[in-house]
Amino acid sequence: MYRQIIDKILDHKSITAGEITSLLALEDAEKTEYLYSTANALKHQEIGNKVFLRGLIEFSNICTRDCLYCGIRKSNPIPERYTMNRESIMRSAIEAIDAGYGSVVLQSGERNDPAFTRSVTDIVRKIKKYSSECGITLSCGEQTPEIYSEWHDAGAERYLLRIETTNRELFRKIHCRKSDFDLRLAALENLQKTGFITGTGVMIGLPGQTISDLAGDLIFFAEMDVDMIGMGPFIPSPETPMGQNFQDSPAAIAARVRLTLNMIAVARLMLRDVNIASTTALQTISPDKGLVSGIKAGANVIMPNTGDINCRKNYMLYANKVISNTPAKEEMARLREILEKSGETIATGVAGHPAHYSRRNLR
Ligand code: 5AD
Repeated sequence: MYRQIIDKILDHKSITAGEITSLLALEDAEKTEYLYSTANALKHQEIGNKVFLRGLIEFSNICTRDCLYCGIRKSNPIPERYTMNRESIMRSAIEAIDAGYGSVVLQSGERNDPAFTRSVTDIVRKIKKYSSECGITLSCGEQTPEIYSEWHDAGAERYLLRIETTNRELFRKIHCRKSDFDLRLAALENLQKTGFITGTGVMIGLPGQTISDLAGDLIFFAEMDVDMIGMGPFIPSPETPMGQNFQDSPAAIAARVRLTLNMIAVARLMLRDVNIASTTALQTISPDKGLVSGIKAGANVIMPNTGDINCRKNYMLYANKVISNTPAKEEMARLREILEKSGETIATGVAGHPAHYSRRNLR
């Protein structure tokens, strides 16, 4: 049954939400292995076996939102708040570019004040001036169409803005009043209209989230025709409302890992040539195997942290988040070794835009 559904997707036939749900529900090791290896083979066929690295610079943890799951939510007094200065961001970007990352991601909490938005424009220009080939991805939340245009004009090509869940009721429950599902949707549409290569994603295993919600998330990615997808397991953060009373267990963790891998694989089958990340959350919840299993289930992007080492501990989105203290170059060597052992290679010095985007623009 599950093999027939996979064959249908491979044959470009349309599938139902129920069929997607049944793939996401697979638990048996032999069946999930088949799902992952088929998705990974499709990845190799569509985009090759090169894994792209992005140097992730988490340049500020100051946030005006109060999302109930997030460790850097505005009302959490514990993280020491920081904003890397321009020199420090440039140093981090140059270190990543010179090490061959080919692309950097600038991520921060959400701020909408002009001092902040202008500083982002400025830093994007400076990075582009240092290397016109370097891909720049921004991940700085919801902004006005004017600000998106300003950042795009400055040279940023890609933008990540997660929808977090497409279940509206659940979206409302896990966010503060400032966050509104329709405004998030409008922001994603504005990013696409601006010309950004647009990525979105969801958290997996949120309290109250069902497998059919997750099937709905995948259908949403396909309908929006997004270019990049980042998905990770929900990880309770004890300092947040959603982390406080969350009862976790090894079995529940294993289920969230499996569900994340199933989501990656089915997303690969459905969206074929998009970029999909093997996320830090997956690596955090499954420290030994998460990174490689994400890649083996069909992901093709890894985002190692290349920001200021002293700031990393304060960008605690969730408990025990993996923090590497390795400089960009050594981190790349470490990842190359791990990945080559499992038959994958790393792409160096290329921006690594998703094939999906270039192909769409040729159509
Ligand atoms: N568990 C998992 N992912 C989280 N994020 C924030 N908090 C958590 C958490 N507790 C994710 C969100 C956000 C991204 C930057 O980090 O999906 O978009």
